[in-house]
Amino acid sequence: MHWWDIPAVHVIETAIFATDPWSIEQFWSELAQPTRHYFVAEIDGAIVGYAGSFVLSPEADVQTVGVAADQRGRGIGAVLLTTLIEQAIQAQAAQLILEVRSDNAAAIAMYQRFGFERISSRPNYYAPGIDAMIMRLRPLAINSTDGGGQQ
Ligand SMILES: CC(C)(COP(=O)(O)OP(=O)(O)OC[C@H]1O[C@@H](n2cnc3c(N)ncnc32)[C@H](O)[C@@H]1OP(=O)(O)O)[C@@H](O)C(=O)NCCC(=O)NCCS
Repeated sequence: MHWWDIPAVHVIETAIFATDPWSIEQFWSELAQPTRHYFVAEIDGAIVGYAGSFVLSPEADVQTVGVAADQRGRGIGAVLLTTLIEQAIQAQAAQLILEVRSDNAAAIAMYQRFGFERISSRPNYYAPGIDAMIMRLRPLAINSTDGGGQQ
């Protein structure tokens, strides 16, 4: 992701996370930090998804993954997640951690497909009955069973 990608990324961000989207300034701030690694997925030159991580070896966190609603189910999320895992491996991180809403079935299924395991939760973190699930991939490897990294 380059700075000039931010407006297009922000359109997707506000559509996905309508109640609490990151601001344009937050994306600028993320891109400015050397520990952050952001990527976009493009189809025919148009941005359809994005993902970012915080890597300070041996720790690494998934900061965000988002795919435009009309482009889901085509393997784009898997490609983005594969890219984050590969980047963390390259940076010699030992593990990758993320936080996900307990009611986000699609994201949880994607992370589980890659071998992420639930390690803890913060009860009622997002809303009554909606926990924050903390998931971890360790050791780091591309575990996707159908070659998500090759799509
Ligand atoms: C989660 C998200 C990034 C997945 O992107 P995607 O491009 O649709 O995902 P893919 O097509 O690459 O699917 C990868 C895997 O995710 C899982 N998955 C994706 N959509 C799913 C759904 N609707 N139901 C169940 N599992 C789903 C599957 O395991 C799938 O693997 P499979 O195709 O072999 O079954 C997308 O739904 C999204 O942007 N959601 C809103 C933002 C969000 O929740 N981000 C994560 C915050 S932690």
